[in-house]
Amino acid sequence: MSKDQELRRAAFEEVEKHQDLVEADPYRLHYHIMPPVGLLNDPNGWIQWNGTYHLFYQWMPFKTGHGAKFWGHYSSEDLVNWTHEDIALTPSEWFEKNGCYSGSAIEHNGELYAFYTGNVKDEEGNRESYQCLAVSKDGIHFDKKGPVVHLPEGYTAHFRDPKVWKQNGSYFMVVGAQTEDMKGAVALLQSEDLHEWTHVGVLAGGGEGPLGDFGYMFECPDLFELGGEDVLVFSPQGLEADGMKYQNVYQAGYVVGAFDSQNGRYEHRAFYELDHGFDFYAPQTTEDEHGRRVLFGWMSVPDQAEQDHPTVKHQWLHNMTLPRELKLVDGRVYQTPVSELEEMREGSVVEHRLELDHETHEVEGVKGKAVELYLEDINISEGWFALEIGGAARLVYSSEQRIFTMERESYVDGVVEKRQTEVDSLNDVHIFIDTSSVEVFVNGGAHVFTARFYPAPNNESIQFTASDKTTLNLKKWDLRKVF
Ligand code: FRU
Repeated sequence: MSKDQELRRAAFEEVEKHQDLVEADPYRLHYHIMPPVGLLNDPNGWIQWNGTYHLFYQWMPFKTGHGAKFWGHYSSEDLVNWTHEDIALTPSEWFEKNGCYSGSAIEHNGELYAFYTGNVKDEEGNRESYQCLAVSKDGIHFDKKGPVVHLPEGYTAHFRDPKVWKQNGSYFMVVGAQTEDMKGAVALLQSEDLHEWTHVGVLAGGGEGPLGDFGYMFECPDLFELGGEDVLVFSPQGLEADGMKYQNVYQAGYVVGAFDSQNGRYEHRAFYELDHGFDFYAPQTTEDEHGRRVLFGWMSVPDQAEQDHPTVKHQWLHNMTLPRELKLVDGRVYQTPVSELEEMREGSVVEHRLELDHETHEVEGVKGKAVELYLEDINISEGWFALEIGGAARLVYSSEQRIFTMERESYVDGVVEKRQTEVDSLNDVHIFIDTSSVEVFVNGGAHVFTARFYPAPNNESIQFTASDKTTLNLKKWDLRKVF
């Protein structure tokens, strides 16, 4: 049996062995992409191809920790219902023996080209990094072509996560990198045929430009056009917390500017975080056949108390965010859940005009484990308004401070922790609750908060509190179990 077959069989056995334990977890999600067993991290190879959406993912089937990653694979016709496909890539070859790390996919001559990082470590822990190509005729089975990019000069071996796109008849690749003087950077490469690649140079970061000193490593870069400008998304490591900013172990965000494909230069403005919650990292986007720019993120952060999640006892860990459509509004990226998700709504909507006066209130029919809430026409006379979910997470808007806060009970020690951002005035809030996750879209997606949280499994309560007078219109839907 080949190494590849061996790894596939071992992963399959692992799924079978733990299936009952995994499925018995009350924190298993109802409508978010999760691994069948083991650990899931970054979205990879995200593409709509011949009508079908393909989302590959970093997968460690054998434990709930990191290691020699596989590319797992889900496909969908509608961004709601997903099929778990055969494993796309196993770390079977010398150039990827310590993991088929993150990467992207592009259509070429009717075939699917997947670019990913072959991660290699020797006995002393020295790292090598190869950007590899694998080609597929059916989107399911891949033929590995091996390394197409070797480490260019000027970088350490922390060089990974190729994202490839076509522009003006040429192919471009951005790679997450660390320069030899230990600065986070995005490297740019160019190709005419997807096989031979030339290193153009540092596109952003590297201790220079508007980012200045900005951490020691950038992961998972993604450069794309949005609303007439060029957005570079990446996940920097090594930023110091700064007021309400950069509170997680690592960050994920973007800069906006102009990419000149002729000379490979990128002029850009300041960095903003994409998400103000606790759990968001390594997002990847694609342009789908409707011309939408759609993002998936990993709903966790590396090294952020990962083994303390209670799902570890059930032999699985982490999930994706919902698919989000991106728009550029006044130079800022807005994110909204894709409209297809309305298909998950089940039963009839509960509509309610909420009028609170120095009180806490529950609304008849507004509770549940898997629900969508939409709050609009919010009017807070003074003081603050709060919404508590399952007794374990709270959203608070202070009209005096103009700060939106997400609080949760830490899954490490139960102590309440918070994340915040400034929000000038609160107009609407769109919330997706899914057993142990919550995604909050504030003011049409101008601000987003994403988190895992772990309410007591039988606590389905949703409570509204106003310190003074608050009125709003509320809609609530139950959401169907998709997984
Ligand atoms: C980001 C990341 C990537 C790497 C992958 C390995 O979470 O560290 O840089 O390719 O995960 O699983």
